[in-house]
Amino acid sequence: MKHILCIVGTRPEGIKMAPLIKALKREPWARVTVLATAQHRDLLDQVLALFDIVPDVDLDIMRPNQALPELTARLVMALDEKFGELAPDVVLAQGDTTTVMTAALVAFYRRIPFGHVEAGLRTHDLDNPFPEEMNRLVAGHLARWHFVPTQRSRQNLLREGISDAAIHVTGNTVIDALLEVAATEWPLDIPLDASKRLVLVTAHRRENFGEPFRAVCRAIRQLVDLYPDIEVVYPVHPNPNVRATAHELLGNHSRIRLCQPLDYAPFVEIQKRAYLILTDSGGVQEEAPALGKPVLVLRTETERPEAVDEGVVRLVGTDEACIVAEASQLLENEAAYRAMARGVSPYGDGHAACRIVDVLRDALCAGAGGA
Ligand code: UD1
Ligand code: UDP
Repeated sequence: MKHILCIVGTRPEGIKMAPLIKALKREPWARVTVLATAQHRDLLDQVLALFDIVPDVDLDIMRPNQALPELTARLVMALDEKFGELAPDVVLAQGDTTTVMTAALVAFYRRIPFGHVEAGLRTHDLDNPFPEEMNRLVAGHLARWHFVPTQRSRQNLLREGISDAAIHVTGNTVIDALLEVAATEWPLDIPLDASKRLVLVTAHRRENFGEPFRAVCRAIRQLVDLYPDIEVVYPVHPNPNVRATAHELLGNHSRIRLCQPLDYAPFVEIQKRAYLILTDSGGVQEEAPALGKPVLVLRTETERPEAVDEGVVRLVGTDEACIVAEASQLLENEAAYRAMARGVSPYGDGHAACRIVDVLRDALCAGAGGA
């Protein structure tokens, strides 16, 4: 048996690791331990419950409005202690959060092979997204296995001198999770006005805190005032820097509904029902194209250029006038809208987790008769 330690810290890691954890648990050669850093508390618990995953270890790291140096330091100390106790053969983590960067670092210090899920994403700008571009670089350079979603991400790693033999193009596990959840029609607690077009909004990026995010909010308000036939649903991220501004600038409007973050299943359902999505989220940039929903990305750069190249995602930044102009075009021009509302899935086909398991089985069980 090989002992595989799967790390989850935040909501998107829970969503994207769930298909892999499930697939690994079906393998006779793998003993799977799930460690939740709980960098996110409530958001992570929601998704683990949906996917029926009970962590074996929970570090309960989240503190209100946590600062990055303290978060990093506490994660390193707590992960090191657990890696020492558990002595896994392999550590797996997904993405670019502080949880992932510290898991890769501690695995390196303890000489435990690290597998990076959703490897190779880059903007080539350390400030955008902050601190995630740094987190990816660190995790990427410490990994034994790089499970990249696309050829583009493979090329990014090759340019950084990573050996091609260590890179595996698997697709993104988010599409595995999405297709499983989207197959069902989920009840929505939020009453939607069927006579209005639904604009779904999410935002949480640290580099947008302050004036850029205020400009985004002003643009949303302008759009709602310009178009009486739209309603906005915005599940507000619990980060206090986002929450306060969202409520200050978007509260008290009859066609803007600010709500708590939605559980993943209803969030997929509301994406299905949306006319248009405005977001700075990484995961939503991957999911919405697969659901045929146009996305305007509230950022100037993206590490997910594939859907932009497909013409179904557009970078609009955080300039108020630009957001209003781009959204107006999609709200007024049927042809422009249709060109972006095509169901394409450049990030995966729903089988990424199986491909990752195949690679790990080959690497870890060679010559051992598969056990
Ligand atoms: C984190 C990740 C980001 C990822 C995002 C996904 C880092 C540095 N940031 O950003 O890469 O895109 O998660 O959502 O790794 N909070 C709660 N409850 C929760 C979660 C968060 O109250 O369940 C609040 C807390 O006050 C917490 C704050 O949000 O201190 C910030 O959480 P943190 O994980 O540091 O950053 P995010 O902005 O959530
Ligand atoms: N999501 C969710 N509920 C919400 C908002 C988002 O379940 O209210 C899901 C979304 O479908 C996607 C993931 O959370 O799979 C994205 O998380 P987030 O935007 O917080 O982080 P990022 O992907 O930018 O790292």
